[in-house]
Amino acid sequence: MSDGTRAFDHDPVMRDEIVATFRDVPAGVIVDATLGGGGHSEALLESRTDLRILGLDRDPAALDAASARLERFGERLITHRCRFDELDAALADHELTELSGALFDLGVSSPQLDRPERGFSYRHDGPLDMRMDSDAPWSADDVVNGYDERRLADVIRRYGDERFARRIAAAIVGARPIESTTRLAEVVTAAIPAPARRTGGHPAKRTFQAIRIEVNGELDALPDAIDSAIEALVVGGRIAVLAYHSGEDKIVKDRIREAETGGCECPSDLPCVCGAVQTVRIVRAPKRPSADEQQRNRRASSARFRVAEKIAADPGADQTDIIESTEID
Ligand SMILES: C[S@@+](CC[C@H](N)C(=O)[O-])C[C@H]1O[C@@H](n2cnc3c(N)ncnc32)[C@H](O)[C@@H]1O
Repeated sequence: MSDGTRAFDHDPVMRDEIVATFRDVPAGVIVDATLGGGGHSEALLESRTDLRILGLDRDPAALDAASARLERFGERLITHRCRFDELDAALADHELTELSGALFDLGVSSPQLDRPERGFSYRHDGPLDMRMDSDAPWSADDVVNGYDERRLADVIRRYGDERFARRIAAAIVGARPIESTTRLAEVVTAAIPAPARRTGGHPAKRTFQAIRIEVNGELDALPDAIDSAIEALVVGGRIAVLAYHSGEDKIVKDRIREAETGGCECPSDLPCVCGAVQTVRIVRAPKRPSADEQQRNRRASSARFRVAEKIAADPGADQTDIIESTEID
């Protein structure tokens, strides 16, 4: 194991299920839109010799670590630093026109969380940073010390599903300037009523998640990225997405459903007459990691997994089929 690999040690969530998802896709290129430490890509490259990976990440430390870990695969791995909603440009840069697969393993990696200097974690003392892309112009400091109380409360509620968002926002504003992750965690914890502090993990977890999502615009980039990936798939190619909170998962579900129905709004008990074109079918895959994996890997516990497969364009798809195949929620 190289130093780069050790420095980016991340246990890939649902690794076996992801390998199984891409087992029968046509030979060609899979975009790993969230390359991270390259754990999923490594498993995919090992599973089939006729696959190549285009690995995207906005974090240069992740690209370095993945390149070191996957060096033995030579030209079967191409890495590219960008946001995943810049997929079209990345494909053009590498003269690629179609994909056999697309994988999104959303959110942050364990090494990003575990390195105090990245400022992602309430467990370590670090600066209020939380940028995945170290060149990004603004950081957690701008949100924590710059947003007005109402906007802060809105972020914490929307991206953290935090019911005490208003109290937390008021406490943060009252404690400014806040200069470290430890101080932020203290302020948030103190703002939550004592009985609620004892349930649901660390009291600051949801607020840190919310601020991280805001800093990195994580939900803004997702719809376009999923649409572009689906568009680029060959027939029989698959898109697989691991989401870690409800806001992410809802976007994934909506974009896949849009591709599945072609945007058809005809009554569900009648044949489609609006000319909508169905471009994917939902693949029934295990929706959650196994209980064993959830126990073994802390990150896996909130994962939601969705898979869809590109089909030959089907104008006027029969609505009855569409309803049946979306029953997985
Ligand atoms: C959960 S980790 C991926 C871990 C990877 N599957 C593995 O096995 O090592 C998510 C990675 O995606 C990157 N990322 C998150 N959002 C991104 C975006 N919008 N564009 C590009 N990379 C992104 C993060 O920097 C992080 O390295």
